[in-house]
Amino acid sequence: MLENRTPYEFPTEAMRQEYDSYTEEHFEVWRLLYEKQMDVLKNRASEAYFEGLKVCGFTANKIPVLDHVNENLMAATGWQLYVVPGLIADKPFFEFLHNKHFPVTTWLRKLEQLEYLEEPDMFHDVFGHVPLLSNPHFSEFMKGLAAISLKHINNPDAIELMSRLYWFTVEFGLIKENNQIKIYGAGIASSPGESVYSIEDPNVPRIPYDVKTILQTPFYKHDFQKQYFVIDSYEQLFDSLDELDRCIEEMAN
Ligand SMILES: [Fe+2]
Repeated sequence: MLENRTPYEFPTEAMRQEYDSYTEEHFEVWRLLYEKQMDVLKNRASEAYFEGLKVCGFTANKIPVLDHVNENLMAATGWQLYVVPGLIADKPFFEFLHNKHFPVTTWLRKLEQLEYLEEPDMFHDVFGHVPLLSNPHFSEFMKGLAAISLKHINNPDAIELMSRLYWFTVEFGLIKENNQIKIYGAGIASSPGESVYSIEDPNVPRIPYDVKTILQTPFYKHDFQKQYFVIDSYEQLFDSLDELDRCIEEMAN
């Protein structure tokens, strides 16, 4: 989703995580990424993100077993991870989200790719995205965002607008907690460079969350963001769905 390359079609059969196929290098990659990112996220990521890590049971020493993560997520908010081969088309993507299924890949980058990846791997999908799915308000926001997207799924202009909202929240969102700005977006949380940049760069604008402004703001891939949007709470995200629904009706005709 949200990439220009040709997406996979909806997988016809459910895939499974082939845990036995992970090698020692894969475990080393997970450990190195995890330890580095936990160090970077300390004092920079949202409390809800750290709570989610605990709920999910992630650790540095073990690549997550998705069946176990699913048990924990089901108990917390009812979400389930659904294994897919890679990026998928918009319609199945939003159908997954609307059913509280989050599509994830299970492949991991190689040691020589620790710093940069062209396509999201399991570290981005799982370490980046999954902790917040255990937060009740964020969980319902994701489901609601998918419902609005599915209403307009045959309108490319509307889907482009929804992609902006998704991009500046789920992928690159910041939140104000105790008067400090913290990370909750998965694209930031899985990137050491952008974790520091998004919080500490003195020049990048950090704009209060506003649905209309986001819908008018194009985004750029493969570079740090030119601005970030800051929510006050996860309730605010959920509460903005009605306005989002109205704006999409008005703007995408
Ligand atoms: Fe992502």
